[in-house]
Amino acid sequence: KIEKSKKFQDIHVEAARFYFSNLLSSKNLGYEYLRKRGLDDKIIKTFGLGFAVDSWNSLMNYLISKGYSKEELVECGLIAHKTEGNKYYDKFRNRVMFPIFDYRGNVIGFGGRVLDDSVPKYLNSPDTLIFNKRLNLYGLNFARKNIVDRTVVLVEGYMDLISIYQYGIKNVVATLGTALTEQQGHLIKRYADTAIISYDSDNAGVNASLRAMDILVKLGINVKVLDLKDCKDPDEFIRKHGLEEFKKAMDASTHYIKYKINHLKKSFNLNKDEERVKFAKEASKIIKELKSPVEIDYYTKYLSSLIDISTESIKREVYGKNYNKS
Ligand code: CTP
Ligand code: MN
Ligand code: MN
Ligand code: MN
Ligand code: MN
Repeated sequence: KIEKSKKFQDIHVEAARFYFSNLLSSKNLGYEYLRKRGLDDKIIKTFGLGFAVDSWNSLMNYLISKGYSKEELVECGLIAHKTEGNKYYDKFRNRVMFPIFDYRGNVIGFGGRVLDDSVPKYLNSPDTLIFNKRLNLYGLNFARKNIVDRTVVLVEGYMDLISIYQYGIKNVVATLGTALTEQQGHLIKRYADTAIISYDSDNAGVNASLRAMDILVKLGINVKVLDLKDCKDPDEFIRKHGLEEFKKAMDASTHYIKYKINHLKKSFNLNKDEERVKFAKEASKIIKELKSPVEIDYYTKYLSSLIDISTESIKREVYGKNYNKS
């Protein structure tokens, strides 16, 4: 099995080289696309970006010429088999290719993006003998060498990560669209004590942020959330506002408790008495997640400033029958 893993890794390296040389040989559509999105030659090389040409069998023919079998390529998720007619064909066609690395830098999978608005926008390797997306964090091989202050930035996607990395934010990892798993949380914990969540500002991103923060907090990680202001994702933010603004946003990122309170607030009409009271009660439950009395005091004051309710009664709500003892 170890030998098979080794072989699968070799296959992935060969495939990555193939896609990479496709991208650079003829400065083709894929290359133009990445340049249009602001990536330079150096970053393209660092991340080994490539291009799968619009063909049904170019990768397959190349890897077969290298001595690999169709069955192996199917198991690697690089080609598909159609039993009807016994046809084999490349899975990634006419897409820019992002090799997915493990934390050591081995290529273990791929993501491929279309060059236009067609769907699916991204196609990713399935889980294989050497790739389990729930256990891996994209970019960790680079980030772990660039961790500053044991802080890591968490983003959703390939382009977010590569884009802010190019600008100089190198302590960044991506969950690649899926919700953060506990295993990924443990990986983060190995290298960082603070995580700055910088997921997309759409509803999906907000909900993924709320789930990710619960997992990270349980692991004892200090969690903050970056405010993307008018932008939909970190790639757009840094291209629009630049590195200094991004660093400022990192510095100003919101403690997760405050983020949760602010998020909760949006679903209440605070001009109505009952909703104000309901919000105060729900927000108190959020503050209750904190253990440190100093933090409880701090966010109690914050909540009290949002609504006209005394810190005294919020604390009673938070501490319940333990109030007098504290
Ligand atoms: N994703 C995926 N399959 C999709 C859409 C998204 O696997 N059909 C994953 C990709 O890893 C992607 C991440 O989810 O990078 C975030 O998705 P999205 O925000 O839609 O894409 P962006 O990363 O912003 O990509 P781009 O800027 O190229 O549109
Ligand atoms: Mn998104
Ligand atoms: Mn994007
Ligand atoms: Mn996005
Ligand atoms: Mn600006």
